[in-house]
Amino acid sequence: MQNNIVHDVCIRELVESDIEFLRLLRNKEENRKNFIYQKEISYEEQLRWYDRYKNTSNDYMYTIISKKDEMPLGFAAIYDVTNNIGEFGRLIVDKTRYTSPGLGKYVLNHLIDISREKLELQRLKLEVFKDNIAAIKVYKFCGFHEYGESTSNGRKIIHMELNI
Ligand SMILES: CC(C)(COP(=O)(O)OP(=O)(O)OC[C@H]1O[C@@H](n2cnc3c(N)ncnc32)[C@H](O)[C@@H]1OP(=O)(O)O)[C@@H](O)C(=O)NCCC(=O)NCCS
Repeated sequence: MQNNIVHDVCIRELVESDIEFLRLLRNKEENRKNFIYQKEISYEEQLRWYDRYKNTSNDYMYTIISKKDEMPLGFAAIYDVTNNIGEFGRLIVDKTRYTSPGLGKYVLNHLIDISREKLELQRLKLEVFKDNIAAIKVYKFCGFHEYGESTSNGRKIIHMELNI
């Protein structure tokens, strides 16, 4: 499974020309509902977010690129890095353009490698809505375990971590 994905995609740091793809993918109803901030993001808001992102030294956002057409297929980030601990999040893949299974797991494994080898982190943490079965499967497959729970607007959130 993962062998095919290596031939189909590459992962590189986010650049400004990616952010409109990110905004449109993030704004889809089926994706928005899985993030804490669920409102639609305007073009101007996205530009302001990118300006802040560029000026934040402990936020690392990555773009998954299709080798076929060199267009973005998804995104993921490691952010709020302090004391060798980082938060994993903003994972999103365009299932309409990449229909084979396994991309979510491939991306997370790749970012775990970056966390260990480049960022020299010792632990990754994340939060996920308890009803987001696909994401939880990805996180558990990559070794994350649950260590707590909270609630946001009546929806349960699971807190997970991975020592790397
Ligand atoms: C979460 C997400 C990145 C997973 O990407 P993906 O490429 O589908 O991930 P994978 O194919 O590696 O694995 C997904 C697993 O969930 C399963 N799955 C997918 N949709 C599912 C559903 N609706 N119900 C139950 N299981 C589901 C898949 O079968 C697979 O399970 P398997 O390992 O047993 O085969 C993708 O669904 C997505 O972009 N979701 C919207 C944004 C989001 O929720 N981000 C996470 C926020 S915390």
